[in-house]
Amino acid sequence: MTVPAATRKKAESLRDQIRHHNYRYHALDDPEVPDAEYDRLMRELQVLEEKHPALVTPDSPTQRVGDAPISAFGTVRHEMPMLSLGNAFSEQELHDFHRRALEKLELDATSELIYAAEPKLDGAAVSLLYVDGVLTQGATRGDGTTGEDITHNVRTIEAIPLRLLGKGFPRRLEVRGEVFMPKAGFEAYNDKARAAGEKTFVNPRNAAAGSLRQLDPKLTAARPLDMYAYSVGVTEGGKLPSSHSEIIDQLQQWGIKVCPERRVVKGIEACLAYYVDIGKRRSTLAYEIDGVVYKINSLAMQAELGFVSRAPRWAIAHKFPAQEELTQVESVEFQVGRTGAITPVARLKPVFVGGVTVSNATLHNIDELHRKDVRVGDTVVVRRAGDVIPEIASVLMSRRPKHTRRVQLPKKCPVCNSQVAREEGETVARCTGGLFCAAQRAESLKHFVSRRALDIEGFGAKLVDQLVAIDRLKTPADIFQLTQEELENLERMGKKSASKLIDAIEKSKSTTLAHLLFALGIREVGEATAASVAAHYGRLANVVAASEEELQGIDDVGPVVAARLRSFFDEKHNLDVIARLQDYGVNWAESDPVQASSDGALLGKTFVITGTLPTMTRDKAKDFIQSHGGKVTGSVSSKTDYVLAGDNAGSKLLKAEKLQIRVISEAELRTLVSST
Ligand code: IVH
Repeated sequence: MTVPAATRKKAESLRDQIRHHNYRYHALDDPEVPDAEYDRLMRELQVLEEKHPALVTPDSPTQRVGDAPISAFGTVRHEMPMLSLGNAFSEQELHDFHRRALEKLELDATSELIYAAEPKLDGAAVSLLYVDGVLTQGATRGDGTTGEDITHNVRTIEAIPLRLLGKGFPRRLEVRGEVFMPKAGFEAYNDKARAAGEKTFVNPRNAAAGSLRQLDPKLTAARPLDMYAYSVGVTEGGKLPSSHSEIIDQLQQWGIKVCPERRVVKGIEACLAYYVDIGKRRSTLAYEIDGVVYKINSLAMQAELGFVSRAPRWAIAHKFPAQEELTQVESVEFQVGRTGAITPVARLKPVFVGGVTVSNATLHNIDELHRKDVRVGDTVVVRRAGDVIPEIASVLMSRRPKHTRRVQLPKKCPVCNSQVAREEGETVARCTGGLFCAAQRAESLKHFVSRRALDIEGFGAKLVDQLVAIDRLKTPADIFQLTQEELENLERMGKKSASKLIDAIEKSKSTTLAHLLFALGIREVGEATAASVAAHYGRLANVVAASEEELQGIDDVGPVVAARLRSFFDEKHNLDVIARLQDYGVNWAESDPVQASSDGALLGKTFVITGTLPTMTRDKAKDFIQSHGGKVTGSVSSKTDYVLAGDNAGSKLLKAEKLQIRVISEAELRTLVSST
C-alpha cells in the first residue's frame, strides 16, 4: 500500500516539530510548549505511523523503545581511544599541571592560558556515532580501546537525539559525553524500588552505568537518564571549530545536550575561582559531580601537548575533597601481591562512605602504616575519593584505647614463610618466595585470566585459589591442561559450569600479542605499555630479542620498564612457560613492524574484504581502512595489496591465493594499523 504524499508530508512535519521541542526541552532547557502539547504531537505521529507502517523510519521520535531485548553485548572498538583524566587533589597539583603544560608549550611561566572549565559529571562515559546526522551507534568506554555496544539502550534516552538538527555536521561525527541519573530521578527511582521490595542503587553513578548495561532496552527506557556531551571523537567529512568551547557550542546547536555550567576562563586563578564557585553550589545542582575539569581550550595547543599513557596533558580533573567517615580498625593484615609486594590492609568495622560500604582500607606500605601509626582498636578517618580505593586518612589519637601496640612488618611471608626483604631505597617490602609462594602464584594466575589479559570468562579468584591450594596450577600454562572431569570434581562446580569453563579456556587461546604481554605479569608492564611494545615489534620473537636500549626507544618504555622486560625474557623458565602456552594452542597474530607514515598507516594500500569478520561488519572494516588512508575495492586483482578475510570467505580468497596476495585477518589489520 503506498502512502499518500500528503500523509507522508504530515508525518515529516510532526517529526520536525517534535525534534524541535526535544531540542528546546533537552538541549536548551527552555521548553516552548506545555508537555500536553508535546504529548499530543507525539500521539498524532504514532497514530499515523500505526496506520501506515511504511512511514516508520528508524530515526522517528516514536522509535526509541522499539527494539527487542538482545542476548549479549557486542563489542565496539573505539577508532580513537577514550582516555581518562589525571587528577589534582590540591591547588599545588593544579599549579604543577599548569606549569608542566607551559613548559611543554615553551611558554613563559607567567603566561595565562584559556581554559574551558566544566563540572566533572559522575555518571558513565558514552560514545555516540552519528553518520549523516543519524545516531547509528552507542558504546560504553570499556577499557578505553574497546567498549560495549549499547546502541539499543542509548536510543531510549530522550536527551540523546536520534538525528542531529540543522546542517553542516561532519558526515561521521562521534560525540562523547556522560550519561547520568539526576539526583531527583535517582531518589524517586529508589523510593519506588524500595516500596516494591526491589533492589535499590547505591549512588547515581552506579545507577547510570547499570542502566546502560541492560539487555532489555525497555528497562533502560524506564530509568530517568540524562546526558551531557563533553567532547568529540572521530570526525570525518566536515570541519569543526578550532577550540573546545566552540565545539561544545556547536554540538548544542546540532541538538546535543551540553552542561549549562561550562565556562571559558583565563588563567589558573580563574580556574580556582570556578572550582570554589561550583563547590559552593554543588548541593544545589540537579546532578552529582565529583569535581571540575579544566581543558586547555585551543585544539592546536592540545595537539602540541599530546598524552601521557592514557591521559591528556591538556586536561585535568580537579577533585572535590574526598568523602570521609569514622570507623574502627578491627585488625591489620598483610597481603601478598602478584609481585610479592607486602601490603598492610586494615580490616574495618563496615562503614558507608561515598555511596559504598567499606570494610577494608589499604595502608599502602609499611612506612605509610608507621607514619600514620594505625593500631588495632583505633578510631580512624576512612576516605574514599571518587573511584579510588578506600584509605585511612588519619587516626583519632584522642580515642585510642589503652594498651595498643605498634604494628610491625612481619619478617616472614604470612603465606609461604619465606623471608620478607626490602631493597635499599624501596618503600615496598616483598616476599622472596617468588612462584614458590602460593599467594604470588595465585595472584599472577588471577591476573593472567583477568578480563584485560587472556580474558577467561568465569575463571574467578576463588577457583584460582582452590586450584593453587591443591597444587594443580603452578604456571599459566597449566590452565590449558585442565580437563572437564577434574573441574567437575571440584567443590562448588557442576557439570555445566565445568563445561562452560572448558569452552572459555578454549576461546581464550586466540589472543593478541598485546594481551599476552600484559597477561604474563611482567613487573611495571601495564596494559598501555604492553600494547605499545606489541605494536612496535609485531612479533614476540622480536620482543624477546630486543636489547634494553632498543626497548627504551618505544613510547611509554623507560629504563626501568626496559630492564624488567629484558630480565623477564632472560629467565629460561619464563620462555618455557610461553613455549608451553603455544604448545597448548595459545595463539596470536604476528606481523612485520610497519614503517610509520604521518598521512595514515594504510596510505597507498588497496584492500578487498571477504567473509564474516569476528567483530567488525564489512562496512565498519571499510571505514576503518579508509580512516587510516587505505582504499577498499570490490574485486581481487594484481593491484590488491591485502585481502582481509573472515569466516566463510569464498572465491575472492581463492583468487588471492592464486595471485599470491597477502591474506590477513581482522586482528592482523589492527596490528598493521597500530604498529605504525
Ligand atoms: S573529558 C581526554 N569532561 O571523567 C579527556 N570527562 O576520568 C576525556 N567525565 O571517562 C574526558 N565529566 O567519563 C571529560 N566534563 C568532563 C567530564 C568527564 C565527567 C568523566 C568521563 C571520563 C572520566 C575521565
